[in-house]
Amino acid sequence: MDGFDTVIYEKKGHVAHVTLNRPHALNAYSVKMRDDLFEVMSAVRADDEVRVAVLKGAGEKAFCAGADLTEFLTAPSVVRARRIRGVRDLWGLFLKVPQPLIAALHGYVLGSGLEIALFCDLRIAADDAVFGLPEVGLGIIPGAGATQTLPRVAGLPRCLDMLLTGRRFNAEEAYRYGIVSRVVPRERLFAAADEMARQISGHDPAAARKAKQAVARGLDMSLEQGLELERNLAASLMKNRPARSKKTNKQMS
Ligand code: COA
Repeated sequence: MDGFDTVIYEKKGHVAHVTLNRPHALNAYSVKMRDDLFEVMSAVRADDEVRVAVLKGAGEKAFCAGADLTEFLTAPSVVRARRIRGVRDLWGLFLKVPQPLIAALHGYVLGSGLEIALFCDLRIAADDAVFGLPEVGLGIIPGAGATQTLPRVAGLPRCLDMLLTGRRFNAEEAYRYGIVSRVVPRERLFAAADEMARQISGHDPAAARKAKQAVARGLDMSLEQGLELERNLAASLMKNRPARSKKTNKQMS
């Protein structure tokens, strides 16, 4: 799959690699990138061969330095923006992707960059990563979910601290706050993400999908409902196991 200006999409075995590719602008999130990313994430979602996807940024300096500030003054009207969102709701799409998503984060991870990462299930940071939500300082609020996703990950006080002060924080702090689950030396980042993807893609993909679903959907439920969800997902996994094993055996023979 190619032909995108702002995103590189590669499939290696069962692993999809999605690279934000505007290094000259620190991979700033533009309208074009939104459209390209929507196509790419739709393809990931529909592709049963893909068991896990890794998102990363091109160039040395950034995963993504936030929304493209040069587009601020030319942004579509609120009505038009709403209509586009109805057709291409990228953030809604991220929530529907059934495969585990890994964000490999280096350099600047600001604004929408952090928000894209927060839509992923696993985040690994390089030791040079710098995080922040500059929106309030620019007179806006995050528009890609951070007001909802960040408190779920880092808790309310830390989220409000980051959101309202706009201060930048490093990978160590992101690790302490639970925003990333691992910090690795910069030169090891992509290898570490690949290794994690390899481990996940080596498992039964249905089990990985259902585990993700149980955790992600369960978070918004009461404990009782969550336990019921887990029971149902476990049961449906067991029910379909013989058919899946047969298929796997056939593929291997
Ligand atoms: N939108 C559009 N272009 C951006 C950008 C953004 N969010 N962030 C960086 N760029 C561009 C710069 O304009 C510059 O382009 P140029 O070489 O044509 O002048 C290029 O990327 C490199 O950035 P530069 O500012 O020279 O790098 P730096 O290392 O000195 O500073 C940052 C890096 C991230 C601190 C700085 O670029 C910055 O503050 N960016 C804006 C962050 C932000 O507020 N994001 C919006 C969130 S809503």
